[in-house]
Amino acid sequence: MSNKTTKGRRDFMGMALGGFTALGGLGALYAMKRTWDPLPSVKAAGFTTIDLKDAPENVLITEKWRGKPIFVLKQSKEMMAKTTEKTKKRLIQIGDAHYMVSVGLCTHLGCIPGYNPEKESFLCACHGGTYDATADVTKAPPPRGLDIPPFKIDGTKLVLGETGPEYEKMLADGTTLAV
Ligand code: FES
Repeated sequence: MSNKTTKGRRDFMGMALGGFTALGGLGALYAMKRTWDPLPSVKAAGFTTIDLKDAPENVLITEKWRGKPIFVLKQSKEMMAKTTEKTKKRLIQIGDAHYMVSVGLCTHLGCIPGYNPEKESFLCACHGGTYDATADVTKAPPPRGLDIPPFKIDGTKLVLGETGPEYEKMLADGTTLAV
């Protein structure tokens, strides 16, 4: 085999491997995008619409609304069994399902709390504040539960930034402060 042929073959192999690597890279990017954005959502002019139809139970979904992180957590039956009359008011009901939806900024000094699905609770690492799965405060220093953003229910979708009757009720009974 001549040197020229061997080199030609090597070039071809190199190109083929390069192609596989590029495809692998695209696959990895796609997988990451799926992890970051697991639910279909649309953002437009101060509104974020999230379709909760396929939301999994006890998996924290993080969205963005007006530059703020938004937490969405579908409650399981076991989690619902632990709610009280007060904490249940914090949840948004769509069909038979209940969701915690809140601004993901600690009400103490604004750090982003982390969620532990085994403990079904949030811990704010800044000063040790904790919240339960409804985002109600369970340990100071946070003065209150995570704030709930204005929302409207539209079928299986949640429109953040619009004020529906369910949100107005939460404001009126003091379940959340206005954001
Ligand atoms: S900012 Fe969260 S406990 Fe202080």
